[in-house]
Amino acid sequence: MCGIVGYIGRNSAVDILLDGLTSLEYRGYDSSGIAVNIDGKVQLYKAAGKLQNLKDIVEKNYAEISKSTIGIGHIRWATHGAPTVENAHPHSCNCGKLAVVHNGIIENFKELKEKLEKQGCTFRSQTDTETVAHLVASKFSQTHDLTEAVRLATKEIEGAYALCVIHQDVKDTIVATRRNAPLVVGFGDGENFVASDVPALIQYTKKAMYLDDNQIVTLTPDSVKLIDIDNNPVVQKVEMLPWEPVALSKMGYKHFMLKEIHEQPDVVRNVLSGKLRAIDEPIVLKEVTLDREKLKDLNRIQIVACGTSLHAAMVGKYLIEDFCGISVDVEPSSEYIYRKTITDKNTLVIGVSQSGETADTITAVRQAKSKGSHILIVTNRPDSTMAREADSLIPVNAGIEVSVAATKSYMAQLISFYLLAIYIAEVKGVNDLRDLKHELIILPQKIEKVLAHKEDIQQCARKFSGSKDFIFIARGINFPTALEGALKLKEISYINATGYTAGELKHGPIAMLDESMPVLSILMSGKVYDKILSNSEEAKARNARMIALTDSTDPKLNELFDCIIRVPEISEILSPALAVVPLQLLAYYIAEFLGKDVDQPRNLAKSVTVE
Ligand code: F6R
Repeated sequence: MCGIVGYIGRNSAVDILLDGLTSLEYRGYDSSGIAVNIDGKVQLYKAAGKLQNLKDIVEKNYAEISKSTIGIGHIRWATHGAPTVENAHPHSCNCGKLAVVHNGIIENFKELKEKLEKQGCTFRSQTDTETVAHLVASKFSQTHDLTEAVRLATKEIEGAYALCVIHQDVKDTIVATRRNAPLVVGFGDGENFVASDVPALIQYTKKAMYLDDNQIVTLTPDSVKLIDIDNNPVVQKVEMLPWEPVALSKMGYKHFMLKEIHEQPDVVRNVLSGKLRAIDEPIVLKEVTLDREKLKDLNRIQIVACGTSLHAAMVGKYLIEDFCGISVDVEPSSEYIYRKTITDKNTLVIGVSQSGETADTITAVRQAKSKGSHILIVTNRPDSTMAREADSLIPVNAGIEVSVAATKSYMAQLISFYLLAIYIAEVKGVNDLRDLKHELIILPQKIEKVLAHKEDIQQCARKFSGSKDFIFIARGINFPTALEGALKLKEISYINATGYTAGELKHGPIAMLDESMPVLSILMSGKVYDKILSNSEEAKARNARMIALTDSTDPKLNELFDCIIRVPEISEILSPALAVVPLQLLAYYIAEFLGKDVDQPRNLAKSVTVE
């Protein structure tokens, strides 16, 4: 949520800043801006809308801007103030000598603003960030030391932030700091970098240092100095990033989302690799460090997550309760943190997050940690803030996901939950799950078959792309699949879509059904098949337009459904990992027919670092 990047060195800064912002675009794309130092003067360039608008401005002024060897940049996901040029970062102070970029929310900005206005500061934007610019400038006028000015300012700021600051009176210096928002420093030769996330750095360096909360870093071309908020020097681990420079390439696909959907067979293979070696061998999950005896005695698990990760967690609950007989609660992190939860040292708390930066989930796991719970994190980013809270860490290895709508990371989370549930069942010595293990091994081929028939889904999408609303129904382990199918559709096509447990339809939602309402039934073979079929009949009797997603070849379905999306036969327990794929494709094709911005849907960001 918002991306920041900073460069200081001997090369021109602007291309590095724009490259960095391009690779951070998944964090927000409402507006963007850079601040550079041209002939001893800090200059700001900002644009509302997509990053391309900023690139166009830069291109027109390239000869001037490219002179600067220092700069900071920002890509915004608006929290305070509309996505206008005035509200775009960087922000400056009255004298215009300072520029600041910020990711997060300054919670006490109103109080600070009042105080600063009384001191004569004039505000030009509606953002919380501008208070930081004025505050740091005022501290700088007292101290003439940029690091000290930032340090003193952070003592007065409440909330979450990652900040980068430059000042024209302190040439060759960037000061950056963080609290509850990620920031990573990259080390170069005669140049240094700072950014919200690794993709902005990885083209230039693999040597990096993650900042902890309340640390302040001062970068020059040849030095990186770190202190804490009380001005004590700090030594922080410098590590080699285990990333290859990511060519942000669509590999011939029209959108990243389509490419990422197609990567799912390999994602499954990756997640299983080394963990599920043979059906007669126990699952290897060294990542779970909770003592085996404790795991055997465990009688309570809580899982916290948001959005798509929450849907993976709901499948996880079903599996762990079914295989292991352990009671599992799943709750949106944003709810968990504002109530009295029954969490203690005997509770295993699992945080699920593809980004590892979701503020609500980080707060939830920190709360649970303070109560003594063992914290297990399931994430696609083992280098994230959440991962650093983990007692046990399961990296899901889906690879970088660029499209804002999560697809392959959801698949990786699902498969990780299958492995975890089987692992716990094996530690407890309950249940023979060899059939499931066999099915997991052949799952990639079944996903490949679905992908090979994507034209059928495309046709169905064409037929229903004019719908204003959509209902997804399912029961049992596929209820989360219905929620996920509906979420994918609404986030990228903006069609109002809702997932219901099929049995609940008659308790209210059925009132909405008429000939304009599509109802998609997730009708996978198993114990609830007949029940969903009856619920689908009830919907058909109200003239709803019926779509089936099924592994059944029953010809009678042709009478009931206007459109049938078929997937290979699969056991009910594993079916969520197959059934979600056509739903991702359906959402994708509908959004594409409607001409929506599939990879960067409006109002969203990939990493939600504010509560
Ligand atoms: C939907 C989507 C979001 C995220 C949610 C949580 O496609 O991606 O619903 O799942 O914002 O994010 P993470 O998983 O990073 O905690």
